[in-house]
This record gives sequence, structure tokens and C-alpha cells, in this order.
Amino acid sequence: MNDQAQNNIISTKNLSVSFPLGKTFFGPKLFVKAVSNITLDIPRGSFFGLVGESGSGKTTFGRALLKAAPVSNGHVEYHDEEVSYNLNDITKEELKDYRKRMQLIFQDPYAALSPRMTVRDILAEPIELMGLTSSREETDEKVREIAAKCRLNLEHLRRFPHAFSGGQRQRISIARALISNPKFIVADESVAALDVSIQADVLNLLKSMQKEMGLTYLFISHDLSVIAHICDQVAVMYLGQLVETAPTHELFAGPKHPYTKALLSAIPSLDPDDDSKAQRLEGEIPSPASPPPGCKFHTRCPFATDICKKDEPQLDYLSVTHTVACHHWKDLETSNT
Ligand SMILES: Nc1ncnc2c1ncn2[C@@H]1O[C@H](COP(=O)(O)OP(=O)(O)O)[C@@H](O)[C@H]1O
Ligand SMILES: [Mg+2]
Repeated sequence: MNDQAQNNIISTKNLSVSFPLGKTFFGPKLFVKAVSNITLDIPRGSFFGLVGESGSGKTTFGRALLKAAPVSNGHVEYHDEEVSYNLNDITKEELKDYRKRMQLIFQDPYAALSPRMTVRDILAEPIELMGLTSSREETDEKVREIAAKCRLNLEHLRRFPHAFSGGQRQRISIARALISNPKFIVADESVAALDVSIQADVLNLLKSMQKEMGLTYLFISHDLSVIAHICDQVAVMYLGQLVETAPTHELFAGPKHPYTKALLSAIPSLDPDDDSKAQRLEGEIPSPASPPPGCKFHTRCPFATDICKKDEPQLDYLSVTHTVACHHWKDLETSNT
């Protein structure tokens, strides 16, 4: 392992996840290839965005990092300052330890919190299950500490989740995810269910906790405008594959893949005179059970040619941190589309 690899909390190599769809009577067993051949590094300490339309495989990728999806090929490595794991050959004991180090924050704060437990018990549950404290006093101390950090007051701890607004519930979910002092967080559409005015509050909390606790996030969202505000790097997924990865400012200043360009142009502009380069994304994302051959985006791409229908494009490296998978990205640069 080289030094560069040591700086990445997560490295995936050719990661693929397939869900069995059942058997046809005569034919072979069918699969949905939800994640296909993804090679990606998530630097330690980063706020790493993963974006793509619904159905592109973002949640499945996140779950594969938690060893909670049927990986059919490739591998996932995890490195923090203390341990390194290869999820393909992790032991039961190691998996238990790994799951203390990484946590998931869900989209729906209404579904994620048990309605019959007080906030105190909701927050205490993970550390009790993990055996991280030895007395009720110690547990309560930790509960009070994380509640304060997540701006929940002591009064709140005695109440049940239904007494709270969506934004407050999401803060409870975040406190619950962070109480065990994890290193890596997968935040899956964590603000998608919230009003725009509340989203900023929750994003600010995630960001401030990152600094305070030295966290790394994989922040999954279908909304590139949310990613723009908070992430320092972005990976764009389409139909189970990576089409482009770049530092956020680079992706917004100079997107290379036609799909990234289309996602960007769908963000409402603040400039009323700006009608440049609007590329509407036509049609639906095809089914991952029967993806098109060649470049998977070719059925919706305005620049697709014959080669795109036949050959799958490889990831090109513009730099160590900027990659793009498109047969024509260079031509599109020179023709300035
Ligand atoms: N447990 C499952 N069984 C079968 N298919 C699944 C399962 N989970 C996800 N899929 C399929 O995998 C594809 C990717 O889904 P998902 O990862 O949820 O995408 P996203 O989070 O980007 O919306 C979809 O076509 C979805 O229907
Ligand atoms: Mg999802």
C-alpha cells in the first residue's frame, strides 16, 4: 500500500453490486446491476458528494461500503488512523468494530426514529448496544454531550420523536449516528425530505460536526445544488457507473461529461439573462435490468455517435482528482458545447 492509499478512508476497486431478479422459466437467472465497476477513493477528512438521478445506484453504493449489499465483484478497503480492513475478507469481530467506525444517516427522519422511545433512549441505544459505556451515568453523560453538540436541549431528551419538527428530528438522527464517535458517515439524501429553509440548518450542523469530530462524509444527493454548497469533491453516477469525478469547484466551473453538464444546467440560474448552454435532459433513465450497450448514457445524449452505441468509454484522467468517462469529451471542449 502506498502513502496515497493511506490518505483515503475508503477505496473501492471495480466494485459491482447485482440484485437477483428471479429466474425466467427457460432462460438464465436475471440480475439488476445496480452498481457497475466503480473505482473510487474517498480522501480522509473530505465531504465527498455522490450525485445522480433516482435509480442510478447511489444508495446501493453507500450500502456496499457498509457491507450491506450483495457485492458481485471488486472490493472495498477502509483505512483510518488506527485500522485497515478489506471488506471482502473481514472477520466477524472486525466487522463489529468496523460498524462502530461508520454510520448511516437516512433520508427520512420520520421513519428512522422509533415513535415509542424517548429521545434520551434513542440516543443511548447505539452506545448501549455497542457496549461503549459501563454505567447509566456514563451513558447519560454521553447523551447530554452529543445532544448539546447537535443543539438539542435537556428538555428535549424526555420527549418522544412526534413532538419534533422534521429539522429537529434530523438533528436527533445525526446525534444518534455520531454518539458512538464514528469516523465515516454515509449521509443518504439526509436533507431531501426537509424544507429548503431547514436544509441549510442541517447542512451547517453536519459541517460543524465534521470539524469538531474529524469526520469523513459520503454525502449522497440527487440535487447538485445541495452538493455545491457543502461538498469538496463530487462523483457523478449514471445507471450504476461513474461518469465524472472532480473537486466541486472544478466540476461546476468546467464540467466535461454531457450528463454532468445536463445536471448542472437543470439548476435554476440566479442570473435572469443566462439562457446559455441549457441542455435539457430528455427521457427516463433506462432500467438497470436491461441497460443499453456501449456508453450507458448514449440513449439520452445529444452528442452520441456510433462508437457510443457500441463501446463502453473508459475513465480518462484529466488530473489525479478529475476523471471523465466519455468518448467525446475532448471534441466537446474544442467545439465549446
Ligand atoms: N434490494 C433490491 N433488490 C432489487 N433491486 C434493487 C434493490 N435495491 C435497489 N435496487 C435497484 O437498483 C437500482 C439502483 O437503486 P438505488 O441504489 O436505490 O438508486 P438511487 O439511490 O440512486 O436512487 C434501482 O434500479 C433499484 O430498483
Ligand atoms: Mg437512494
